[in-house]
Amino acid sequence: MTPYFTGVVAMDDQRGIGLRGTIPWYLPADLRHFKQVTMGHPILMGRKTFESLGHPLSGRQNIVLTRSVSYRIEGAVVIHDLTELGQLELQDPEVMIIGGAQIYELVLPLMSKLHVSHVPGCYEADTFFPPFEHLFTSRGISLPMEGFSVAIYTR
Ligand SMILES: NC(=O)c1ccc[n+]([C@@H]2O[C@H](COP(=O)([O-])OP(=O)(O)OC[C@H]3O[C@@H](n4cnc5c(N)ncnc54)[C@H](OP(=O)(O)O)[C@@H]3O)[C@@H](O)[C@H]2O)c1
Repeated sequence: MTPYFTGVVAMDDQRGIGLRGTIPWYLPADLRHFKQVTMGHPILMGRKTFESLGHPLSGRQNIVLTRSVSYRIEGAVVIHDLTELGQLELQDPEVMIIGGAQIYELVLPLMSKLHVSHVPGCYEADTFFPPFEHLFTSRGISLPMEGFSVAIYTR
């Protein structure tokens, strides 16, 4: 199964996505949106994002990227390089890239699609999504939700 990549991110007006290991806002409707978009797909995340979640997310094949060869997680697959994805038995070929910044940065050039929850305003943040608009040719219509709007970018 050849994987392809879809990003899922929530960002503010300055592309801020994180603060001190967590997310700068609390938007239950975005958490529901995230669940709906990712359910049934493999989710790929960095070790820090996994630790901020604290546990694998149900209904999704959790894949965690780390450079540590001794890192083990019950209920998640640990990989050390993107090329290892090709050797996994994936739940579905559409791999959802769920962050954080280091993993978005790494996979952004390979993403065929990106779901962005645009959270209006400028929050205190120490982690940012890289500039991305120039990499996508089309921006789907923004859907207004409770406290944010969702746009889907495609190549
Ligand atoms: N707003 C959003 O949608 C959203 C989504 C996700 C996360 N976040 C936030 O983003 C922040 C975390 O992002 P982050 O950038 O600091 O960390 P991260 O991307 O979650 O994880 C970074 C870790 O991934 C591993 N890694 C990175 N590149 C690698 C590579 N090429 N090969 C192998 N392993 C690699 C390393 O793990 P080791 O150190 O173990 O080697 C690295 O320390 C948190 O604040 C989180 O809440 C926000």
